[in-house]
Amino acid sequence: MTLPSIATAVVQWQASHGRNHLPWQQTRDPYRVWLSEIMLQQTQVSTVLGYYQRFLDAFPDVASLAAAPQDAVLALWSGLGYYSRARNLHQCAQTVMEQWGGAFPQTAEELATLPGIGRSTAGAISSFCFSERVPILDANVRRVLTRVLAFDADLAQSRNEKQLWEFAQQLCPTQNLQEAMPRYTQGLMDLGATVCLPRKPECGRCPVAALCKSREQGDVLAYPVKTGKIKRTAESWWLMALIRAPEPGATEVFLHKRPHGGIWGGLHCLPVFQDEASIQAAIGQLPGRWECRVHPSIAHVLTHKDLLLHPISVAVSDQVTGPPNLQGAWCRQWRELGLPAPVRKWLDALLGAQPFGEN
Ligand code: ADE
Repeated sequence: MTLPSIATAVVQWQASHGRNHLPWQQTRDPYRVWLSEIMLQQTQVSTVLGYYQRFLDAFPDVASLAAAPQDAVLALWSGLGYYSRARNLHQCAQTVMEQWGGAFPQTAEELATLPGIGRSTAGAISSFCFSERVPILDANVRRVLTRVLAFDADLAQSRNEKQLWEFAQQLCPTQNLQEAMPRYTQGLMDLGATVCLPRKPECGRCPVAALCKSREQGDVLAYPVKTGKIKRTAESWWLMALIRAPEPGATEVFLHKRPHGGIWGGLHCLPVFQDEASIQAAIGQLPGRWECRVHPSIAHVLTHKDLLLHPISVAVSDQVTGPPNLQGAWCRQWRELGLPAPVRKWLDALLGAQPFGEN
């Protein structure tokens, strides 16, 4: 097989064996395609489906998203993780309104200048919506292409990554681009997600198995070659859940907004302490009456970090207006705010449907 026949095989396979009924495939509206591509980064299709629909119900177009408060955007994102995606999404909508007259640009090169849109996402949006002949190269597609080509250079080095992008460009369809480009892009994604799997590739179902160089070598699993491994670290966080019931039937939680940039940046969270001594000291300084309870720890896995969360709930008397030296506010409507998923889940379990302190 020659290079163009790779594209043809992928396009034909996508039409008969690929995924063709996902909600974001029924449109060429760049707003919807962009939203789906951002949500699908690091998140499975089955998880995205519900979030996608709820998000569109709340923000049906780029203008409504741009005009929304950031908290409303983060609240709808709560549970999807990687919250910088939601902050960039919001910023991107504002940039499209302010600098592009409310219409997304129509080339990958221009799309890639927008907040949160990297080269591969720009390629996906542009090929899906405008049939531009541009490649994508997310982690799944990187695996497919390095295997097909037996591309053995270390992708931790930028010049090798650049070279793979060039090959990816050359492999794109050359005819009937209007229809072929969206199918080809989706076909590569589908191959990566359903056939060319990391540890158990199903080469018997692959439309390009006959020309796959790594298969010819008998070493599909050797690709992609990447030496630069991310270093994982572990951290313990103590969470102070200050809770009060200023009137019967009403429960309030003390929350603060985390600084942008770090873990859970921009989300509302319980105050975090780096060690047990400092949370106990802070509890000791609380005015008025209080009653505290240490809860079982929760393991939470992030991309580069294993977090071990140690929640301590402190029921305070309703005279306590605000704890000393802690930034934040008492929130009654905490369920409507953007909270980290494990914190939301834990608070839900603790407070349930019942107001705190009542049985
Ligand atoms: N992952 C990233 N983009 C996707 C898409 N358009 N369909 C399915 N999975 C994806």
